Amino acid sequence: MPKLIVTTREGETSEIDVSDGLTVMEAIRDNGFDELLALCGGCCSCATCHVHVDESFAGKLPEMSEDEDDLLESTDHRSPTSRLSCQIPFTPELDGLKVTIAPED
Ligand code: FES
Repeated sequence: MPKLIVTTREGETSEIDVSDGLTVMEAIRDNGFDELLALCGGCCSCATCHVHVDESFAGKLPEMSEDEDDLLESTDHRSPTSRLSCQIPFTPELDGLKVTIAPED
C-alpha cells in the first residue's frame, strides 16, 4: 500500500498506509491526527486542512484551483509549498509523499 509521511505541528513524524481513493486530508484524518480539523469535510471552503508538502513532490501534485489559491491566501502560514490536503487525491505516484501539518491560524 502506498505510504504517506506526516509530520505534526509538534514535529513528530509517522508513516501511514493509504487505501485507494482517499485524499491526503482523509488519509491524515482517518489515522487520528486530530490537529488537522478539515472542518468543511473536503469542500474546499475552510483551509483547516492546510499542509506544507515536500517540494520534491511539487511536480506530481494536481494543479491548484482558483478556490484553493484564494483560501490559502487567507491563511497566515502560506508558503510556496502550501496546499489544501483535501484537494490532493492520493494516487500511487504519490507513494512516499511527505507533508507537514501547517500551524493553526
Ligand atoms: S477540508 Fe476544508 S478546505 Fe480542505
